[in-house]
Amino acid sequence: MTEEQLAKARRLAARDGYTTVRVEQGYIENAPVADGWADVVISNGVINLCDDKAAVFREIARILKPGGRTAISDIVTERQLTEAIVCDVNLWASCIGGAMQQQHYRRAIEDAGLQICEMRENPQYHFISDSARGATVTFGVKSVSVLAAKRG
Ligand SMILES: C[S@@+](CC[C@H](N)C(=O)[O-])C[C@H]1O[C@@H](n2cnc3c(N)ncnc32)[C@H](O)[C@@H]1O
Repeated sequence: MTEEQLAKARRLAARDGYTTVRVEQGYIENAPVADGWADVVISNGVINLCDDKAAVFREIARILKPGGRTAISDIVTERQLTEAIVCDVNLWASCIGGAMQQQHYRRAIEDAGLQICEMRENPQYHFISDSARGATVTFGVKSVSVLAAKRG
């Protein structure tokens, strides 16, 4: 997303000889690729940081080929977060403040035209700070992995 991240990704790809890798700048809500371009879209720990998750899933559906797949790791909640949590910038930075309630998350994926094949918890994932751990217990904040496909 940032110039520094792009520079690092390009440097590492060149260093390790990944000649088929191309790095492009863009936001996940507005990816710089054509409709139906991708066989697979992967995302790890980014969507919870986006305020308009429906727009992200619509964008994934737009860029996937029919029958294409997306593999996502993200943070969701069992219970709806309160306004105090959502407005806490430190909890957003900890990947908690922007986490969506899991049924709403599923619906946003399906409303975008993607079919969920599997959604499973990652019980080995743990938050570090005290405030993050507190919110985890109160709201059931957790890491999940999702596999979904664009209807063909
Ligand atoms: C928790 S890190 C995960 C980074 C990486 N995916 C990984 O697995 O190590 C979140 C990343 O999301 C990026 N990010 C946040 N909002 C974004 C957006 N709207 N579009 C693209 N990237 C975004 C940030 O730059 C940051 O690098």
